[in-house]
Amino acid sequence: MTIQALSSLYPWTKAFHVISLIAWMSGTFYLPRLFVYHCDTARGSAESERFKVMEYRLMKQIINPAMIATWTFGIMLALTPGVINWSAGWWHVKLLCVILLAGFHGATSRWRKDFLRDANTRSQQFYRIANEVPTVLMVVIVIMVIVRP
Ligand code: HEM
Repeated sequence: MTIQALSSLYPWTKAFHVISLIAWMSGTFYLPRLFVYHCDTARGSAESERFKVMEYRLMKQIINPAMIATWTFGIMLALTPGVINWSAGWWHVKLLCVILLAGFHGATSRWRKDFLRDANTRSQQFYRIANEVPTVLMVVIVIMVIVRP
């Protein structure tokens, strides 16, 4: 299924897709870094309470709206006539990685709530390694959509 009216909007839809994915990725890369430093603070301390506010604002005011915008413009692009060959391998790999990214988003939301409840039990090392996951996914996604191997 495609929507003819989207054809004339194509360059704008793609521009806003790329703008929103940059915001989504930058927030997604930054949040686990905050978790790494948050692990170093005493529960209930002023420092820990400040990290809770930073994590809340990053998630609610940047990551969530940017993810919704990336999906919205991405789906509009997919519904634009002639843009996607649904049998192309690169598109399937991209979609799989994007779904994994959304899964990572869900995990960071859960980890943030653990910190909020002073119930985090994961180590700094855990969050350092977790921080690599969106980086790898982003690299694969961009290679797929631009190189189309
Ligand atoms: C969230 C769901 C997403 C959907 C449904 C989606 C879908 C699409 C579609 C249909 C295109 C147009 C391809 C074309 O013009 O031929 C596109 C372009 C693009 N997407 Fe996504 N995308 C999504 C997420 C992402 C993410 C998370 C990234 C990067 C981390 C990304 C990176 C790009 C880039 C760089 C382009 C421009 C490629 C070009 O200039 O040709 N997309 N996307």
